[in-house]
Amino acid sequence: MIKLNTNENPYPPSPRVVEALGRAVDASIRLYPDPDASALRARAAAVYGIPADHILAGNGSDELIALVLRATVDPGDRVAFPVPTYSLYATLVAAQGGAAVTPAYPDDFSLPAGLAEARARVTFLCNPNSPSGTLTPLAQVEALARAVAGVLVVDEAYVDFGRGSALSLVGRLDNVLVLRTFSKSFSLAGLRIGLAFGHPELLAGLRTVKDSYNLDRLALTAAEAALDDLATMQANVARIRETRTRLARGLCALGFRVLPSEANFVLARRPGVDLAPVAHALAERDILVRHFATPRLRDALRITVGTDAEIDTLLGALEAIAS
Ligand SMILES: Cc1ncc(COP(=O)(O)O)c(C=O)c1O
Repeated sequence: MIKLNTNENPYPPSPRVVEALGRAVDASIRLYPDPDASALRARAAAVYGIPADHILAGNGSDELIALVLRATVDPGDRVAFPVPTYSLYATLVAAQGGAAVTPAYPDDFSLPAGLAEARARVTFLCNPNSPSGTLTPLAQVEALARAVAGVLVVDEAYVDFGRGSALSLVGRLDNVLVLRTFSKSFSLAGLRIGLAFGHPELLAGLRTVKDSYNLDRLALTAAEAALDDLATMQANVARIRETRTRLARGLCALGFRVLPSEANFVLARRPGVDLAPVAHALAERDILVRHFATPRLRDALRITVGTDAEIDTLLGALEAIAS
């Protein structure tokens, strides 16, 4: 099976993570984990240059998204985000009884107007965006943070594959919350680790609705070890970026339109053509890619950047399917 549908990393995590996990599986697992993730937060503070009291650890960034909404949104409150984007925002806003305000991205995925005007409690910006892979420049993110009425959550799940993070806004703007995950660049999707960076008062609100032991001992151990070996993560990211260029070129040669991607996936489009049959034909060959059955995206496939060999197989299969 070649799995290119959920943006996991095709390469293993740092060997240091695996070693640390091996050492951590001992009698200490009878004990609860640290509810404050103090060691991880101290490590993250050193790596990212943000004070530890501006950092909160989550059970994946998905948990952090849920905590933001649970802490800030009452039924009927507005939550804004440009679409199409990460589908969990809409799901969790609905679960919370919030009212989603969703201005549409134009075809080039530049930031649409109407976000700040929504006067929302929370505004989400997925940056780089999924499924487009496109990046909103930092100056525009800062202008948006200054313009919105409530909290601006910048979801940077894919930022290590691109350039330009909003972390520099944390500490300068009290309403900015930046989310990071260990699931993508650090190859640790199976362990569920995310970090939120923001003003301590904002984080205090999130803590009131968080389970105390939200990260288990092994996840904490793995995250600390991962931050001790940035070189492995960066080497994997460099390989993925090179393969991303090959993938985009290969798709263009097959007649797809591909948006410039700053993430570990690309959005490939055949304008006006429903690509569900192509996704099915690939699945029959044990290649999974993501097709969204929505009016805006049915002519597109989101394809995770796998290994070079996986991408060669995918491109060969697409060529065979088209002919
Ligand atoms: C934009 C975005 N945010 C957050 C997540 C979830 O990350 P995590 O595995 O840390 O919950 C994903 C996962 O695909 C994502 O695409």
